Amino acid sequence: MESITSPRWRYLLILLLLIGTCRFSDCYDPLDPNGNITVTFDILKYAPDGYVARVTIQNYYQYRHIEKPGWKLGWAWTRNEVIWSMSGAFAIQQGNCSSFKDQVPHSCKKDPVIADLMPDALPQNRSNSCCHGGILAAYAAHPSLSNTSFEVTVGNLEQNTPGYKPLNLSLMAPGPGYTCDQLMDTIPTVSSVIGGRREEQVLRTWKSTCTYSSYLANKTPVCCVSLSSFYNPKVTSCPSCSCGCNVSDRLPKSCIRDGSIPSDFPDVDIVRCTDHMCPLRIHWHIKNNYMDHWRVKLTVSNYNYRKNYSDWNILVQHPGFGRPASVYSFDSTMLPVIGVPEEVALFWGKPFYNTEILQADKDQLGSVTSEILLRKDSESFTLNSGWAFPRTIYFNGEICQMPLPDTFPMLPNDSHALHSQFLLHLIAVYLTYRTFVGF
Ligand SMILES: *[C@@H]1O[C@H](CO)[C@@H](O)[C@H](O)[C@H]1NC(C)=O
Ligand SMILES: *[C@@H]1O[C@H](CO)[C@@H](O)[C@H](O)[C@H]1NC(C)=O
Ligand SMILES: *[C@@H]1O[C@H](CO)[C@@H](O)[C@H](O)[C@H]1NC(C)=O
Ligand SMILES: *[C@@H]1O[C@H](CO)[C@@H](O)[C@H](O)[C@H]1NC(C)=O
Ligand SMILES: *[C@@H]1O[C@H](CO)[C@@H](O)[C@H](O)[C@H]1NC(C)=O
Ligand SMILES: *[C@@H]1O[C@H](CO)[C@@H](O)[C@H](O)[C@H]1NC(C)=O
Ligand SMILES: *[C@@H]1O[C@H](CO)[C@@H](O)[C@H](O)[C@H]1NC(C)=O
Ligand SMILES: *[C@@H]1O[C@H](CO)[C@@H](O)[C@H](O)[C@H]1NC(C)=O
Repeated sequence: MESITSPRWRYLLILLLLIGTCRFSDCYDPLDPNGNITVTFDILKYAPDGYVARVTIQNYYQYRHIEKPGWKLGWAWTRNEVIWSMSGAFAIQQGNCSSFKDQVPHSCKKDPVIADLMPDALPQNRSNSCCHGGILAAYAAHPSLSNTSFEVTVGNLEQNTPGYKPLNLSLMAPGPGYTCDQLMDTIPTVSSVIGGRREEQVLRTWKSTCTYSSYLANKTPVCCVSLSSFYNPKVTSCPSCSCGCNVSDRLPKSCIRDGSIPSDFPDVDIVRCTDHMCPLRIHWHIKNNYMDHWRVKLTVSNYNYRKNYSDWNILVQHPGFGRPASVYSFDSTMLPVIGVPEEVALFWGKPFYNTEILQADKDQLGSVTSEILLRKDSESFTLNSGWAFPRTIYFNGEICQMPLPDTFPMLPNDSHALHSQFLLHLIAVYLTYRTFVGF
């Protein structure tokens, strides 16, 4: 069989990589095919000139959270609605309420934008499940912190109105990237009361789903992966220019070398100068090989001088997670994946210990690290051909740039394994994910 390092193969690979990127189409994530953020308007009661609605935002993304400074939800009213009052959130602009004499509405904007209250909000401004400063956790990590709701009293409509669905829902979470459907009438939400013995149902329910696209978010890659092992002194560093670089700069990035930010430097994110220029590097080190187990050390390093990553998560796809694993310094869970050949594990920080990856400073990078002890499956486990390295890694839902499989640290005398079917499989997996998720 022809070696895959031959020019013909390289050419084929490059061709596939070019075809494989789907920048301009709607890419969906095969590891989280049902991920979405659902926005629900439940009409709780009618008023003479409008209605009271409870708006719930539920994050169903398994490993994509909404971080500081939090979500903003906007829409456009169909008629001349105003918001008389709100609890659990607020409209960021009041707008022109000069035509209201007796009672001044909370907001008269035709296209209000709503933001969350902080956890220290006053009791009279709160709703039942609110006030997280706009932060929503990823569903797989913290299902109970993945939703929020607020109440809005809508008025200034004609008498005995049925209410009109707001139009053009928009979700900033916190940046762009989400597209929301039009709100649709659905089966009214039912909740149980009296200890589950009675079911109550709201008067009317409108629902919309919002989905994320990296392309719309216009994100450059945020992370890259480097690899090492106990059996080979070679360290495979991140692919150079993973997240930008000086030559052929599509998106020129600035960086500083020694950690002293000039005092006149603009107030933007700034990273340490590296070959890869990524704000984050994820390192996978194969540390030990025991009789029944093998041990990996997973380290995330923050090269950003002005950004802490709170409530971070890392997703790793590796067939070794088919067996139980012990994770020492992170919390973790396995994700249910259907139709994906390799298991997927999700890791995040332990409360009060390492939920935040601190920014780099002059002396060191910010970092979090954990060892992972995996049980071997004698059928599949091997140190050959880079099997023990991960297939894909995501940080906070963004895919990380992996080195090409033919640069992985190899077992001594494993170079002939380059011929193996297995490596071809690895490359195929790599290409598949580039195709689905590509940048
Ligand atoms: C949104 O996510 C939920 C939970 O995964 C799923 O049941 C629902 O079908 C999704 N909605 C859409 C429109 O994909
Ligand atoms: C505010 O609304 C009133 C009544 O609708 C209108 O007469 C006035 O011009 C508006 N003011 C501004 C600044 O738009
Ligand atoms: C909180 O409630 C008070 C009185 O109910 C109101 O005046 C104030 O504007 C509210 N604050 C916010 C942030 O909604
Ligand atoms: C938020 O999610 C939790 C867990 O899934 C659920 O029990 C709770 O009812 C949800 N809250 C709202 C307001 O939807
Ligand atoms: C909703 O968005 C569409 C398309 O962007 C626009 O034409 C329309 O005017 C918007 N509707 C409202 C009420 O703002
Ligand atoms: C990138 O280029 C600029 C200007 O040519 C230079 O000042 C800077 O040091 C370069 N950065 C790196 C990481 O080489
Ligand atoms: C990051 O966290 C450190 C320590 O808590 C703090 O000193 C620093 O100001 C934070 N940086 C940003 C950009 O918030
Ligand atoms: C590796 O290959 C070299 C030459 O190809 C040979 O001398 C050496 O003994 C081999 N080592 C092992 C562990 O097989």
